[in-house]
Amino acid sequence: MLAGMRPPSLLTVKPLSPMFGGLYAAAYGLGGQALVHRLVAHYGPVVSLPVLGFGNVVAVADATLAKQVFTEKPDVLLGGEGVGPAAAIYGRRSMFVQEEPEHLRRRRILTPPLHGQALAEYVPIIEAATRSAMHTWPVGRPMRILGVARELTLDVIVQVIFGVHEPAAVRRLGRPYKELLELALSDETPVRYALRRVGVLRMWGRLARVNRRIDELVLPLIAEARGERGRADVLAILANATTEDGGGLSDNVIRADLSTLMLAGHETTATTLAWLVDLVLHHPQVLARLRGEAESGQTEYTQAVINETLRLRPAAPITGRMTVGRYRLGDYTLDPGTRIVLLLDAVNRDPLTYPDPNEFRPERFLGQRPHPYAWIPFGGGLKRCIGASFSMCELTAMLHTMLRHGDFQPVSDRLETPSSRAAPVVVPRHGTLVSFTPSLPH
Ligand code: HEM
Repeated sequence: MLAGMRPPSLLTVKPLSPMFGGLYAAAYGLGGQALVHRLVAHYGPVVSLPVLGFGNVVAVADATLAKQVFTEKPDVLLGGEGVGPAAAIYGRRSMFVQEEPEHLRRRRILTPPLHGQALAEYVPIIEAATRSAMHTWPVGRPMRILGVARELTLDVIVQVIFGVHEPAAVRRLGRPYKELLELALSDETPVRYALRRVGVLRMWGRLARVNRRIDELVLPLIAEARGERGRADVLAILANATTEDGGGLSDNVIRADLSTLMLAGHETTATTLAWLVDLVLHHPQVLARLRGEAESGQTEYTQAVINETLRLRPAAPITGRMTVGRYRLGDYTLDPGTRIVLLLDAVNRDPLTYPDPNEFRPERFLGQRPHPYAWIPFGGGLKRCIGASFSMCELTAMLHTMLRHGDFQPVSDRLETPSSRAAPVVVPRHGTLVSFTPSLPH
């Protein structure tokens, strides 16, 4: 950072054990995030945190600066390096961690199956998966929505990505990705990323074993899908995509993008469903109105409820970009190689855009589209979540099916609070405990 325009530098990270705390503070952790929020509240919307293994991290909690970051040229702020820690899990060939123009080339291939008409075709799959999951849910005793939602969204994403629908095959394909997700959410990932960046660590045995299992299952499916006409699932689209040189995508590239979609595509939505159910069950008038839409099939109010949930409880509360050269961010000048971490949840609660920002008021979004840079649960710019429309469609279909076929009571009078466990996805502390009664006997 340059003198004069420096953001206040607040944390000095000492080697070894405090380093791990520092890593979390900067990159992922909720404990860390709460700390960053306190710092932002005290020092203003831009705070600098030098963190060993991550370099300089600048946390940003301001809609104007978020717009500047999201709309910056991709060779000035790097998107792939900005979310670099994800490479440890998705693989370094994943589109998520590529820079331009490769990132956009790969993104274009994945866009059609996650938008437009394709979404309408997923609705019956999502409804059927929700109904059959509900048959297995415990009746009349506490059940964690987060747990059942994870199973459900994994089931749906396997069907959408791989085009398989037979229950045993769906379960078989979901299993190694579930394990990969556990690794992604484990404390090890950011630590390993940082150690790798400072050149200390390379091997990760457990990850290699999971990836071998994924290869055993998925490589034959890729081979089978190559050249097959008439399939609309994501795997077939990837397997038959033509690249600019007239060739196709390699198995390794396809495998990395499949892992990216499988992981990014289910945990965040499951977590959002858990927050959504928690907020709705504690607001009876909202619940009554939602039930009406679940019966009528309309979705305007439901969309507003989901938008408001994502505003208050964005499942993935941060994203990042990295400066290439010296960079002017608002009034600040950042050094080359600075990691800009956008605090999505802080921007979503800007009191200038949202009066009483901490109140749950879905009506805010009735008749108006969310502001593109003050409502950013899906990030923004060239890397804005590619699954945003899909997850809105999935959340609507799951919620409506649940309300049509069951009754849900909150176990506690109090709203959930975020889990204190450090993780890239912020989940409700108790997983949203509810008591479920099916409309018809099981
Ligand atoms: C409520 C659910 C979801 C939330 C809150 C969420 C949130 C996010 C966020 C914050 C980003 C980073 C954007 C940025 O850096 O500007 C992102 C990127 C991404 N998300 Fe999602 N996501 C959700 C669902 C999904 C689903 C269902 C899929 C896939 C089916 C998906 C796939 C991706 C991918 C592939 C990227 C990287 C995009 C790129 O690099 O171009 N997400 N998501």
